[in-house]
Amino acid sequence: MKNTKYKYLLVAALYFLGGGNWAHAQDATTKAAAKAGGFSFQELLFIIVFLVIIAAFLTVWKVVSSMLKSQQMQIMKEQGTPVTEDMQDVGGFSHFWKKLTDAVPVEREEDVMLDHDYDGIRELDNKLPPWWVALFYITIAWAVIYIGYYHVLKLGPLQAEEFEIKMKEAEDQVSAHLATLGAQVDENTAEKKTDEASLSEGKKLFELKCAACHRADGGGLVGPNLTDKYWLHGGDVKSIFKTIKYGVPSTAMAPWANQLAPDEMENVASYVLSLQGTNPPDPKAPEGKEE
Ligand code: HEC
Repeated sequence: MKNTKYKYLLVAALYFLGGGNWAHAQDATTKAAAKAGGFSFQELLFIIVFLVIIAAFLTVWKVVSSMLKSQQMQIMKEQGTPVTEDMQDVGGFSHFWKKLTDAVPVEREEDVMLDHDYDGIRELDNKLPPWWVALFYITIAWAVIYIGYYHVLKLGPLQAEEFEIKMKEAEDQVSAHLATLGAQVDENTAEKKTDEASLSEGKKLFELKCAACHRADGGGLVGPNLTDKYWLHGGDVKSIFKTIKYGVPSTAMAPWANQLAPDEMENVASYVLSLQGTNPPDPKAPEGKEE
């Protein structure tokens, strides 16, 4: 029974010494945290709260059990039963606990009783519990390590730097996301796409948004014929992208920048180009110059 208690403590201690890093070793986003000594602040806080809860639980359990035991010993004494070695419980976990608290057992309270007595209230001269004193020294040691690590050797990022790192990571994520949306495409980088998926997406958009003025087959109605070689504003993919994006001021051709994503404009521009030479029936007369 006592041995299993030790075993659990050992396993927990080994895990914490391992830095709790096992789970995160490959995770790029915790690199900054790993740099700061194995734990992120939240993890550290969680561990401390966890330990405090365990300590509180052990304390309550210990107090209750020692109260029960002294009660039991009292009764045994009254009945004249000899108190066995086992009852006094030396060694094992209790021994360890005694070392931690250095508490004077209730039976020997007289030894630490101070001699003053105020209205029947007397005082015990207990030692500070060693666990508490140890905690105090640990905080001092921790402060030295912390200052050495962060401020003298400058091995870890301080708050401001950590903030920069996180912001940089977030920016990278945003630009990676925008890149997948095709948001980087503009009139200088637009390419003529020829793959099936892009063209059918372009066709869908064209029939939905553009056919009213350019006719579903591109033959032209209010807007010019888009299937011939004649262009008012240029017939390469970059020029067409530009016309779609910014529109043609003071004509029915409105700017589409706010309604279509850049890659959608690229797709629809590519689709417009794919209409070249389709010769739809009854086309609108050529406008602009031949290209
Ligand atoms: C409300 C009517 C209307 C809609 C809707 C419309 N256009 Fe136009 N479009 C025009 C007009 C009018 C012009 C001619 C502008 C000018 O006179 O310079 C034009 C011009 C163009 C041109 C330039 C042609 C050239 O000869 O240089 C392209 C390319 C074009 N539109 C593509 C589109 C696409 C793609 C859409 C859909 C996203 C679209 N248009 C939606 C009316 C429209």
